[in-house]
Amino acid sequence: MDDGGDLTATVHKIMHGVRDESVDWASSVLDNPLACCSEIIGGTEETTTGVMRLRSLEAKGLLRYPVIAVNDSPTKRLFDNPIGTGQSALDGILRATGILLAGKRVVVAGYGQVGSGIAMRARGMGCEVIVVETSPVRALMAAMNGFRVTDMVEASEIGDLFITATGNINVIRAEHFERMKSGAILANAGHYDVEISKKDLERLAKSVERVSEYMTRYVMRDGRELYLLAEGRLINLVAAEGHPPEIMDLSFSLQALAVKFLLENKGQLERRVYTLPAEIDDLVARSKLETMGVKLEKLTDEQLRYLSEWSIGT
Ligand code: NAI
Repeated sequence: MDDGGDLTATVHKIMHGVRDESVDWASSVLDNPLACCSEIIGGTEETTTGVMRLRSLEAKGLLRYPVIAVNDSPTKRLFDNPIGTGQSALDGILRATGILLAGKRVVVAGYGQVGSGIAMRARGMGCEVIVVETSPVRALMAAMNGFRVTDMVEASEIGDLFITATGNINVIRAEHFERMKSGAILANAGHYDVEISKKDLERLAKSVERVSEYMTRYVMRDGRELYLLAEGRLINLVAAEGHPPEIMDLSFSLQALAVKFLLENKGQLERRVYTLPAEIDDLVARSKLETMGVKLEKLTDEQLRYLSEWSIGT
């Protein structure tokens, strides 16, 4: 079971004989890492970036066992990403800074599953939200959901708080830091601490000081102050407590059912990235609804027939 693809990458390096200085195999708990890895039946992956890495392995013909992309199940990506991260990222920012969100201009980079959840919740807290996107479809969706959409250069000049949620690298970099207002706050909710370029921040700063547990102040050469939260790592995991259990129960149910699926289909799956069947999403959603005491409407026999026949009602 992986979350972010690091375990998968390590296992594949072992299996493909790629030397990795970051792994100390001499003192590894495994007697024979290669033999252990060869016995793997399959894998499961929790998040968007991990699935991206798996698809890259698959496309290059390097994937060594079947993997279930748990992230791609609707009961994961439509809940954990926008609702879980949407809440916990703002929670982390508030715990790290204690700022009032109302009235702030918040720039959200990436209007995917995670970014759209953050944007919606920030708006609900009274922020003016500006979205930065590279995908025309997602940018259009943000615009039609009523958000101001622009590029990062323009957004840099107006934002009070910047939140990255792209899974990409150097999304906010030197050309953007140079335009930001003094006091601007930078936080990352995407995969890794490379979305906000710390290298550029350090290069441009005349001084760097940790001013509180989760806040580092970079004083630019012209005197402007920029505040980076949680060293650019995932703000919701570093400064808050991640997602509440009421949303992780969906993701972890899927993880457990993905392992069951791999065992039940042992030897029958190819070295590919699989998505769980829709029945598993239905099962997880139904169970969750039951715990919430929410009633579900049942299709009548007539409705079932109507929905499955091409000749009725035309
Ligand atoms: P997604 O693929 O749905 O959305 C990412 C969006 O970012 C896409 O719409 C893409 O067009 C856009 N984008 C890419 N490069 C950009 C750039 N330079 N500027 C502006 N937009 C850009 O992915 P999702 O599910 O929203 O996940 C985003 C990241 O968050 C991933 O790395 C994922 O692993 C991570 N994640 C973090 C969680 C947390 O607990 N903090 C929880 C779930 C996911």
